[in-house]
Amino acid sequence: MSANVIDGKKVAKLIREQVSEDIQYWVSHGQRAPKLQAVIVGNNPASHTYVKAKTKACGEVGIESDTLILPDTVSETQVIEAIEKLNHNDEVDGILLQLPLPGHLPSWNIIEAIDYRKDVDGFHPMNMGRLAVGQPSFRPCTPAGIMELFNYYSIATKGKHAVIIGASNIVGKPMTLMISREDGAGKATVTLCHQYTKDLTRHTINADILISAAGTPKLITGPMIKEGAVVIDVGINRVADPDNERGYRLVGDCDFESTQEKANWITPVPGGVGPMTVAMLMKNTLLAAKDAIYQSE
Ligand code: GUN
Repeated sequence: MSANVIDGKKVAKLIREQVSEDIQYWVSHGQRAPKLQAVIVGNNPASHTYVKAKTKACGEVGIESDTLILPDTVSETQVIEAIEKLNHNDEVDGILLQLPLPGHLPSWNIIEAIDYRKDVDGFHPMNMGRLAVGQPSFRPCTPAGIMELFNYYSIATKGKHAVIIGASNIVGKPMTLMISREDGAGKATVTLCHQYTKDLTRHTINADILISAAGTPKLITGPMIKEGAVVIDVGINRVADPDNERGYRLVGDCDFESTQEKANWITPVPGGVGPMTVAMLMKNTLLAAKDAIYQSE
């Protein structure tokens, strides 16, 4: 068998086009364009690359954007002051604090300083908590994008056994909540594996849906998966490649060749989950501008 490839690039484009049409309508009726404000602390090159990709996507769909770059010598108080200024700026709809922060900064104090009504990443405990109890909230972009892929390709999750690898706050934990929710899509039975899980294959082999967000190349190989499984690869790993002009190439957590022989559905890296994360950020920023989740509380 050869797996069906899930085209995240295509689905992400459709979502961005929808967002763009909504914004055009919105602006043509006299509203100002939504605005996303990114905040980067320090000079982590990957963070700068990700934020550039996000602000470029903003430009393409008609969202205004701006990036505040703070030096990595900044104090917790200074970052929180900068965020509070953005909270009170009525022209800013969404605030994106790029993670990780430099080690000396307490990430949670800073994430909690963001007005949850502008938290388009969905990382604030208010949004995470509301997600956990099934209330409307901003949903973290990567797991929300994966749910959109299931929806687009009519991949059923109800009653299925989903195995998620990686218990991060950005992917694994919110993914667990979304895919097991009792309302709407979801309704799956979930196993959440992490770095302390013993005998990973004992779990992965039972997965109808396997979602890997571990950040380890070739962690998942064909013999570890169930025949006909849905395999979602969230890993974005750089591996050295002298043939590539950048000196590296991007690979996921799954060995594509051997997994695609057994899987029914599979996401490629790149071009699978990655573009969906950016598209969902655009969608969340539009929702923030419309006050669609927290109606002008
Ligand atoms: N770092 C890694 N992924 C993400 C993300 O989706 N949002 C933010 N803000 N930081 C990240």
